[in-house]
Amino acid sequence: MRLMQIVLLITLFSVKAFAQQPVINFLDSGHNASLRGLSVVTDSIIWVSGSNGTVARSTNGGKSFEWLTVKGYEQRDFRDIEAFDANTAIIMAIAEPAVMLQTKNGGQTWTEVFYNETKGMFLDAMDFDEYGNGIVAGDPINNKIFIATTDDFGQTWRTLKDKHNNYNVANGEAMFAASGTNIKITGPKSNRDILLITGGTKTRLFLNGLPVDLNIMQGKDSQGANSIGVNPVTDKIIIVGGDFNEPTLSEKNCELLTYRNNQVLTTFPKTQPHGYRSCIAFITNDKLICCGLNGADISNDGGINWQLISTESFHVCAKAKNGNGVFLAGKNGRIAKLVMNSK
Ligand SMILES: *[C@@H]1O[C@H](CO)[C@@H](O)[C@H](O)[C@H]1NC(C)=O
Ligand SMILES: *[C@@H]1O[C@H](CO)[C@@H](O)[C@H](O)[C@H]1NC(C)=O
Ligand SMILES: *[C@@H]1O[C@H](CO)[C@@H](O)[C@H](O)[C@H]1NC(C)=O
Repeated sequence: MRLMQIVLLITLFSVKAFAQQPVINFLDSGHNASLRGLSVVTDSIIWVSGSNGTVARSTNGGKSFEWLTVKGYEQRDFRDIEAFDANTAIIMAIAEPAVMLQTKNGGQTWTEVFYNETKGMFLDAMDFDEYGNGIVAGDPINNKIFIATTDDFGQTWRTLKDKHNNYNVANGEAMFAASGTNIKITGPKSNRDILLITGGTKTRLFLNGLPVDLNIMQGKDSQGANSIGVNPVTDKIIIVGGDFNEPTLSEKNCELLTYRNNQVLTTFPKTQPHGYRSCIAFITNDKLICCGLNGADISNDGGINWQLISTESFHVCAKAKNGNGVFLAGKNGRIAKLVMNSK
């Protein structure tokens, strides 16, 4: 009898703990594309992009997606996308030539807004603020990270000239085109911060051009920092990464930084995310999600402890720019939504 009671108690506790965990609900899958671009405008408007010239868009919160292949770009891999509303978006095709395309009609037609066929060009990620200032970063050419900027939502781009470019990197130090989140433009219009992270032989954070060494796995091509989460309210920066060839390794895959008075303070989680992580996103000041090849984790304490919530593979996760919805995307055209279980 006593034993029965204990068993019942344990069962009740575990059910309760489980019920409080958010869950990942699949919305779509089965399309022949690896999705690494994700831009969530509102809880209703979601755009994704990926390989085989693929773009998909939902205007009903993910109930349905319209899938399209961008004409003339069927072989291209759109590793990043930034959407501004249901009609307007920019997609980035990484290499040779490096191209960015813009649509103003919900994806029906696309126009080239950036084209560079320099050998060795490989675009990794873009980011924009709400005023239309944007930045795109690419792998180094002559040991300088490639940078171009826009101030009109990506309509026109200016390439940063070598003599003004302070993003000097070591041999074998580059960036990953894993989730479009290794560069961030953040802060008020008058005082913007630009954060950029590298990986490979060396992994560093460039904060407004100034390099800060990271204690994230490094030394090999497959190792380094993949994604930055920034919380402008708390000045917290959380960086995730690891080794994409060893997706289950959980060491040196997350670093927590605080930027204050020109000083960067760094700490590490008590419970690491459970593997290589290609993307991180703030959900609230304390709640975060990160994902990678072997699953997704949630933190409820600002990144100090991470709980595995799924063992499904995802490349990218993002919260709505104007809303609360959190979505994920990955291989085989998979798109999912994080559903909070508030009991
Ligand atoms: C995916 O697309 C490629 C080329 O577009 C094609 O060769 C391949 O068979 C497709 N795979 C599936 C599972 O449809
Ligand atoms: C289509 O996408 C898959 C990844 O999902 C990739 O393996 C394949 O090479 C792509 N095909 C083309 C033609 O890009
Ligand atoms: C293309 O990129 C290279 C490498 O950064 C740069 O030197 C060149 O000016 C760019 N070309 C154009 C047309 O912007």
